[in-house]
Amino acid sequence: MQTNLNAALLAISLDRSAPEPLHLQLTEALRHLILSGQALPGARLPASRQLAKDLSVSRQTALTALDQLVAEGYLDTRQGAGCFVASDLPHLAPPAPSLTPPPEPPVAYRPFQPGIPDMTLLPHATWARHLDRAWRHPNPDLLAMPNPLGWPALRAAIAAHLMAWRGIDCAPGQVVITSGATETFELLAQALLQTGDKVLVEQPGFAPMRAALLRAGLVPVSMDLDEDGAQLAVESNARAVVLTPSRHYPLGMTMPLPRRLAFLEWAARTSAWIIEDDYDSEFRYTGTPLPALMSLGTGQTIYVGSFSKLISPALRLAYMVLPPSLVEPIRQALAETGPRASLVPQPALAAFMDSGAFATHLRRMRRVYADRQKALLRSLSRHLPEDALIAEPDPSGMHLVCRLGPALATIRDTDISERAAKAGLTVRALSAYWPDGVGPTGLVLGYAAFSAEQLDGAVQRLAAVLHEGSAPVST
Ligand SMILES: Cc1ncc(COP(=O)(O)O)c(C=O)c1O
Repeated sequence: MQTNLNAALLAISLDRSAPEPLHLQLTEALRHLILSGQALPGARLPASRQLAKDLSVSRQTALTALDQLVAEGYLDTRQGAGCFVASDLPHLAPPAPSLTPPPEPPVAYRPFQPGIPDMTLLPHATWARHLDRAWRHPNPDLLAMPNPLGWPALRAAIAAHLMAWRGIDCAPGQVVITSGATETFELLAQALLQTGDKVLVEQPGFAPMRAALLRAGLVPVSMDLDEDGAQLAVESNARAVVLTPSRHYPLGMTMPLPRRLAFLEWAARTSAWIIEDDYDSEFRYTGTPLPALMSLGTGQTIYVGSFSKLISPALRLAYMVLPPSLVEPIRQALAETGPRASLVPQPALAAFMDSGAFATHLRRMRRVYADRQKALLRSLSRHLPEDALIAEPDPSGMHLVCRLGPALATIRDTDISERAAKAGLTVRALSAYWPDGVGPTGLVLGYAAFSAEQLDGAVQRLAAVLHEGSAPVST
């Protein structure tokens, strides 16, 4: 409390050009601190000499103000001890209701939380070294007005990564750094589309993306899926489509080439935009990854990538690759809002990528996640009856989608999710990935962030939850 009072005292600002004498301004400011509760009854004020020094006024000014407040009864002096806020101030208004925010929910991830990488396995010492190098003796450009499109070295490192991992041949100038995929969708909506424009989206799909479109006044139009991914309706007057062709979110299918070409043909014919959300394609465990859709021709495709699943969602760094014609409109849109991605991690990330440490990290995580998926499948078959959850090996990704088997035919996936939450598990109901919550039932089990032992313990807890049967959830 004393620290807060000291900060409040130092924040007092006196106007030397005002007609009101400084001692009256100071008296008024101190009275306000007491009446507003920033200086609580019994709090000790600095000695007049110190107060005068802190506020750059004469000692006489400080003394006059303190004397006045003693005379008014706001302050008490105690011989040899200094000046205190009076402990009995009956005329003070009752304290304002507390503005203390409610306690934050716990931040630790609970087992099966999908979409979270194992951040403990990041090579933290290497990462810290790159941050240190970048900022201990910063490149002068880092201290200047940041380029709204992002730190040039990071844009170049991302272009090189995309060539090697995703088959995309782009220039660093086409890469724009953002603070996350959601900001990217918002920016694209603002710069390229008009209120009321229709945008085709996958159903089920990534809820934050749909929410971003709605916030921008756009009209999401759901596309049905088959085993090849989203199906393009025969005729559509939509202005854009958002696709996850490399790994549908959350179902995981890969869109084969003929379907990709159909979308490209539609986009070229109608001048619509394809927004390719390629959020975790680096994590493919078997077979050769299909290159990104953007690698088939950049004219109408905008590629969106994110470091949230590759490094950490706390980094808040993502990017898009634009066709050259869109770089200027996006620069203007960013100039209006101001770039949201912090420059602080960008040079370190560029160096981390250029040094090869990023690729090494991805290869390592690919092995770890592949093992964890196998471990989860083993635990499911060990602890659950065969007809409870139907789970298949998945060649990619960070979660498994399990269908409810005959033994669970009478239970709703949302009920299981609620029961599991009470048992300390974050089990997502598959039906909740449909915008109206009426999709097929199933469970989405994230495994990437949890060790084989943690997964095994969590599956045992899930088995107990499922065993409770279909009795109503108690609240
Ligand atoms: C489908 C999908 N797209 C994009 C992202 C990345 O989002 P962001 O960069 O805002 O963390 C995620 C992360 O969970 C995702 O699941």
